[in-house]
Formats: sequence, structure tokens, C-alpha cells
Amino acid sequence: MTTEGRRAPGPRGIPLLGSLPQWKARTAEFLLQTQRDHGEVSRVQLGPVTMHLVTEPDAVGRVLKDNSSNYVRGTLYEQFRTVMGDGLLTTDGAFWRSHRRAMQPVFLRGAVAAIGPNVVQATQEMLDVWEEKARLGEPVDLVTETLRLTLVTLSRSLFGYDVRPEAPVLKDVVDNVIEVMFKHGTLSEMLPSWMPTKRNRLIKRDRAVFTRLVEDIRRQHADTGQGALMALIEAAKDPVTGESWTDDQVRDELLTLYLAGHETTAVALCWTLVSILLNPSVQEELDAELEQALGGRIPDPADLESLPFTSKVVDEALRLYPPIWIYPRDTVEADELGGYHIPAKSSVLLSPLASHRNPRYWDNPEAFDPQRFTPEAIKARPRMAYIPFGAGARMCIGNLMALMELRMMVAMINQRFRLSLVPGNFLRYGDSSISLRPTTEVLAVPVPRTAPRRTRKAAVSGVGGA
Ligand code: HEM
Repeated sequence: MTTEGRRAPGPRGIPLLGSLPQWKARTAEFLLQTQRDHGEVSRVQLGPVTMHLVTEPDAVGRVLKDNSSNYVRGTLYEQFRTVMGDGLLTTDGAFWRSHRRAMQPVFLRGAVAAIGPNVVQATQEMLDVWEEKARLGEPVDLVTETLRLTLVTLSRSLFGYDVRPEAPVLKDVVDNVIEVMFKHGTLSEMLPSWMPTKRNRLIKRDRAVFTRLVEDIRRQHADTGQGALMALIEAAKDPVTGESWTDDQVRDELLTLYLAGHETTAVALCWTLVSILLNPSVQEELDAELEQALGGRIPDPADLESLPFTSKVVDEALRLYPPIWIYPRDTVEADELGGYHIPAKSSVLLSPLASHRNPRYWDNPEAFDPQRFTPEAIKARPRMAYIPFGAGARMCIGNLMALMELRMMVAMINQRFRLSLVPGNFLRYGDSSISLRPTTEVLAVPVPRTAPRRTRKAAVSGVGGA
């Protein structure tokens, strides 16, 4: 389809580079500023690449749902493929459809509840270690703790595999993979994969670590039958050839799930905990709800229905700090979004961060306010103003699992501890990373709920974009 729409407004930029310097220096701030100055569909020039930042809800809906076949994975995802291979996140068309169908059953509402005991066990293990830290008055780093917790939970829940001994190595691999995926425009990225550059050596090492891990997981599954998702993957057939998935396909999907599933959930948990401790009235209401609904009992997934405030707290943290804060698409043909012309073969950028701080739909957007998620408030907003998990056919496959984990973990952590931030933390987000991970460690001292409560002063200097 060709369109007659107008050219979208956008920042002027400088000759040749356009807005690339601002984008590289402070991506999150740049996106928010662009939305403020130029509106909900704006044109941004990044060197040779023309990109449209789209936050207008109807236009977001057109990209993700109504005209989604015109918006494909494209250039950034090519970069992901170098490390992740061909998995759910990086593929399109029939291949993606058959893989999504094969794996979907374990992520459905009814199935997700079965993961509850793993969430409880992994969270208790973490909190038992915190008990000792609390006794010594030592802080924990919430970034590291939440990453380990979600990694262990995911691995046990989907693959029946206890990944704890490998957790430090895997953290290294994940950090490196993320760096490789997001380092654009370097010379080494353009060199062929067989050349022994540092980047290529690291990619090779990471894939080797992962190949070994997947072999262990498959061997263990064959012996024990554990791991609901492993059972589906081992039984899956290619719809064209009727053959089982190849070893490479199994490895790529496991790598995708480890990468897409644990870091995102950890980042969400970390920001939720920080948001609670920075907002004493939220902490009080949360404590009251937990006390009233559970009375000290460990929750199970069925209890979540009686924890509506806990859910709202998680939803609000996903609004203010959406772990996947940008995701791109490339157009196949020209289109029109919000009345503006979008050229064929150009990039469109969706940004939950910008959408979720758009003052047109969110009063005082920088404030943390769980009451934005009452049923009435949700109904009054366009659906596409809130997109932490995407939407349409490519919506996050793990969204119900993530929400269940987050609510259970938030409840369990707050039942046992108050967290007290170590003074001097300045919490930053928004470097050029895949997720909205805080850019430094976040040190907090766990204080057991039974101990006399300390008065918590505003211990941080602030929260802001990088
Ligand atoms: C708070 C946690 C999470 C957030 C914020 C999140 C966010 C997202 C978003 C925004 C997308 C869509 C990207 C796009 O359209 O380009 C996505 C896709 C995906 N997510 Fe998540 N995710 C989370 C947790 C999980 C978990 C727990 C898993 C699995 C265990 C998972 C696996 C995936 C996969 C495989 C895709 C690709 C789906 C497809 O294209 O079919 N995510 N996620």
C-alpha cells in the first residue's frame, strides 16, 4: 500500500549523523524528549537510518495487531540472531508459528499455576540467605539477587533443571550476549564470523557454554522426565518435514527462553522492590493486604486473586520501569500511522517507556501510583497506552508466568523483610541495553519484619534516566 500521508515531525539533528549523538548518549531521555517535543508519531534520523517513534495508541495497535504482517523483525533482530540463533524472538512466518504453537501450552493460564511451588522454593532459598545478611547488618545487591532468583525459577520450572552451580557462568554469558546484541556500528561487527576477533571469540565461547548446558538439560530430562517445556520440545515436529526439531533448534529456543525470560523478570522485580521502599504509603498498604489475606502464610498462585493491591503495585512498576523499553519493527510496505507517511523498508520503534510516560494518558507520569490500575482506570485508557509485554500475535509468551512470579515474589519478600537502601544509591536506567536494568548495583539491607522497624529516611539521591 502506498500512502499520501504527511511527513512526521521530528528533531532536526546534524548533517549526516542526524540525532545519532543524542541517541547514543542518553537513549531513554532522547525518546522521552522527542515524544514531548514532536508528538506521538515522530521521525528520527539516526545516521542513514530513518526511524519513526510511535506511541499513539491506535498507531501502536496498527503495528502490533491490525496490520502486523507489514511489520517484521528486521535489522535489530538480525543482530540478536548472531547470538541467539533462530528462536521465537528472532524469526517470523511459518517457522515462528509452528514453534510458538508447540511451546504455548506451558505458558497458558492453567498451566502457569503449576510453577507456583518452584517460585516459592527459590524465593525461600534466597530469603534464608538474606536472614544471615540481616543478622550481620550487611546489604544485598538487588540486581544480582533478583537475576539469580528468576534464573533459578525459570530453569526449574520450564526445564526441570537446577541451574544454581552454573549461575555465575551464565550471568557472565548473558551479560556478554546482551552487550554483543546492542553494540552497533563497530568495525568488528562487520567482519565475518570466522575471523578470530574478540567479539567472534566471545560469541563462540557463549554458544559453547550454552550448547553444553542444553546437552545436560536434555540428558537429565531423558532420565527423569522432569521439565514441562522440555517434554513439549522433545515431542515437537516440524510441520513440513514431520521431523523432530534439530539439536540446533532446541538449543536456540532454550537460549531464547533463558535470555528473554529471566533478565526481564529480574529487572521488573528489582524496580518493584525499589518503588515499594521509596513509597512508604505503598509499603503500608501492601503490608496490610498481605497481613489480611495471608496472615503470615506463604502464598500460592490461588491466593493472588485476593491480593489486588500487590498486582497493582507490580503493574505500576512495569509501567514506570518497563524492562523491555524499546522494540523495533521494519516495514515491508509503506503505511500511514497517525496520519503520517511511513516509508517502505524503514524502521518503526515502539517504546513502552515513552508510551507509559505519555502525559496524555498518565497524570503526573513520573509518580509511582498503583491506583492507576483500578478496573475503572484501566477501562478509561486506550489498551495500547500500556504495552509492557507487547500485544497481538507476538505478545510475550511468558507474560502470565512473569506476572505470577512477580506477585508471588513481591508478597513473599515483603512478608519477611523490609528493605532499607544504603544511602548514596543513585538509581539510573536507560543506557543502550536491552532491558531497563539499573546501571549500577542497588544495595539494600534486609531488615526482618519481626525486628523493631527502623525509620527509613529518603536514602537515595534520586531516580533517573542515564
Ligand atoms: C516482566 C517480564 C517480561 C517482560 C517485560 C517481557 C516483555 C516482552 C516483550 C515486550 C516482548 C515482545 C517483543 C516484540 O514484540 O518485539 C516479549 C516477547 C517474548 N518474551 Fe517476554 N517478557 C517478560 C518475561 C518473559 C518470560 C518469563 C518469558 C519466558 C520464560 C519470555 C519469553 C518471551 C519470548 C519467547 C518472546 C518472543 C515471543 C514471540 O515473538 O513469539 N518473556 N517479551
